[in-house]
Amino acid sequence: VTKNMILSIETSCDETSVAVVKNGREVLSNIVSSQIESHKRFGGVVPEIASRHHVEQITYILEEAMREADVSFKDIDAIAVTEGPGLVGALLIGVNAAKAVAFAHNKPLIGVHHIAGHIYANHIVEELTFPLLTLVVSGGHTELVYMTEHGSFEVIGETRDDAVGEAYDKVARTLGLPYPGGPHVDKLAQEGEATIDLPRAWLEPGSYDFSFSGLKSAVINTLHNAKQKGITLPIENVAASFQESVIEVLVTKTIQAAEEKKVNRILLAGGVAANKGLRSALKKACEEKGLTLTIPPLSLCTDNAAMIGAAGAIAFEKGKRANDWLNGEPGLIL
Ligand code: KG4
Ligand code: ZN
Repeated sequence: VTKNMILSIETSCDETSVAVVKNGREVLSNIVSSQIESHKRFGGVVPEIASRHHVEQITYILEEAMREADVSFKDIDAIAVTEGPGLVGALLIGVNAAKAVAFAHNKPLIGVHHIAGHIYANHIVEELTFPLLTLVVSGGHTELVYMTEHGSFEVIGETRDDAVGEAYDKVARTLGLPYPGGPHVDKLAQEGEATIDLPRAWLEPGSYDFSFSGLKSAVINTLHNAKQKGITLPIENVAASFQESVIEVLVTKTIQAAEEKKVNRILLAGGVAANKGLRSALKKACEEKGLTLTIPPLSLCTDNAAMIGAAGAIAFEKGKRANDWLNGEPGLIL
């Protein structure tokens, strides 16, 4: 194995994170500073506040990541940074910090796609083997990504409207739960029963795309109608019904895609991979079909720089280099 020590930076949304990753899989440090508390009272991430926090935090987080990894810049082979997608002002802080470090220490610079990072969180847990299929579920993304080799990504399905996490957060808000609502809905769903009939958006036969906005509206309408009739629906049953619909569609489409693409390896990625219901339903479905499933630990599911370092290490080995023009690309495609 070639020497491959990556300093990686992630600032695409509301976590400022820096990591040091050795040979693509060994995490020497992974410092994550979350801003959730600052955004909570607004019920969502405020881009301007996110950028300001990144600016304030990035230098300290960088120093801390180097200190914890117990390395100096002479040990670092390349700097990897999330170039997109994400909030442009937030991305720019990470990209500019990476450029400054790369320039000051004369190191190669590598731009990494945020979703590639989420996928490669799995590589830290267990070495990837191909072909494989990843279900990426986060606050900003819902995608089925097919891979036949390292660093090549084919998106075979994606959301046409809301991302799963976004739907969770909106439903949570309707139920009066704090932001981010995903974990709260998940917890309530474990306590309730799926007694409410909600739609499943299968879309056209054979499509691996997703849609969650209709389901979200159905939940809102159901609550509204019940209220008008003077009925109070137990919110744990609303949560359970919503979660059941989401999981059924996600798991069914993932298994169908795996069969069509003839892959026997499935990865789960992104913040919603923390969902207990989804983890157990996907695990069960994979066991039934004899598919191998990898799910990263929680700390690697939510946004972090170690995953960017893992994806960056592969890009580094493949000779991918960015130049001084590297920019934050909010709509970067995989
Ligand atoms: O990957 P992530 O940290 O950030 C993005 O790149 O979007 O994902 C955050 C999303 C939020 O929408 C949050 O509500 C959701 O992941 N989430 C969950 C759970 N934990 C986090 N959604 C459902 N169930 C959970 N247990
Ligand atoms: Zn993410």
